[in-house]
Amino acid sequence: MNPFRFGSIVSGEYFTDRKKEIKEIVSEIKAGQHIVVMSPRRYGKTSLVHEAMKASGIKGFRINMELIADEVDLANYYVRNALTLSKFGKIKYYLKNLKVQPYIQIQPGTNEISVSFNAEMRNIPALLSGSFQLPEIIARNMKKKIVIVFDEFQEIRRISASLERKMRGIFQYHQNITYIFIGSQESMIREIFQDKKNPFYKFGRHISLQKIPRDEFADFIIGRFSSQKIDACGIVSDILKFTDCHPYYTQQLCHEIYILNEKKTLTKGIIKRAIDQVTTEHHADYSRWWGSLTNTGRKVIIGIASGNCNPTSQEFIRKYGIRSASTSGSVISKLTASGTLVKKNGKKVEIEDPFWREWILKNR
Ligand SMILES: Nc1ncnc2c1ncn2[C@@H]1O[C@H](COP(=O)(O)OP(=O)(O)O)[C@@H](O)[C@H]1O
Ligand SMILES: [Mg+2]
Repeated sequence: MNPFRFGSIVSGEYFTDRKKEIKEIVSEIKAGQHIVVMSPRRYGKTSLVHEAMKASGIKGFRINMELIADEVDLANYYVRNALTLSKFGKIKYYLKNLKVQPYIQIQPGTNEISVSFNAEMRNIPALLSGSFQLPEIIARNMKKKIVIVFDEFQEIRRISASLERKMRGIFQYHQNITYIFIGSQESMIREIFQDKKNPFYKFGRHISLQKIPRDEFADFIIGRFSSQKIDACGIVSDILKFTDCHPYYTQQLCHEIYILNEKKTLTKGIIKRAIDQVTTEHHADYSRWWGSLTNTGRKVIIGIASGNCNPTSQEFIRKYGIRSASTSGSVISKLTASGTLVKKNGKKVEIEDPFWREWILKNR
């Protein structure tokens, strides 16, 4: 079986390092201290919080805000998840607490619950407050703490402009719930939690997740290959050089190397073959991303892909024919906000996906 996984939550033997972060999160969960976990996409936030929740032994649920359509949808999701934490026999009692009554279906075999509200617009505030209160009521009744994780929390602003205020107004009274907020768009997350004007100002402690340290990652890669009796010692540093220790892209590259490999000992040529394979497979996506860029965007990306790292310098804008440093700067801000570009150590701008960078260089 392929010893590398990417895309979904990783756990157990597919998960490495993060010992310090897990310890920190577990202790905050137990102390009831709310936290905000931040990093660019695909650094491993969701996996980390999942591991920490497991390690804490405290029950809870996670809501991926990207998948929530609107406030009614959020209420449905919330109530359904909260009820799974309660004892089956108590469900009726908890439902009586809600001002707006949902339509409930229970699968007799699995006890799986489906909840749906058919709320009218005027009922939404009552519906939301009832839903947000429910986990606290359940926790109090069970005399147990609960953890609630909001993943991709910055999406809250798409769902509704007043949702932050409504949530904060209720969450601040909760004694038995630890809230964990995960965010991928750093600027928006900072605004939500660090701007005095906003309801969630100083609501939780911040944890900025970094990439996985090189030595730890190298040991992990060697260990995973060796579980399949393959020796990766000779190429591990080149793998990490290409991916710059990015958790997702490293697993993606190793996954591909494992598929292509036919030898007991890996040699460097296989890295290039694996990169070629990935860029070929994703050609359609990469073309689409390229096609969605503005003209200036393309110039900036080409410059950065070629390794010219100060895209607002006079030399850069002259070389790539960009109108002015401020044009270049505003394009970079947009592309950084959307995650296409990332700032390494908060400074040097880079293309987020090393495979896409390779595709751009190859196709030009
Ligand atoms: N601790 C880890 N050890 C090994 N690989 C990891 C780790 N964390 C993340 N990854 C890799 O990165 C991918 C994305 O992780 P995920 O938790 O979904 O990131 P995020 O929530 O930050 O977008 C995983 O599928 C896995 O391939
Ligand atoms: Mg995630």
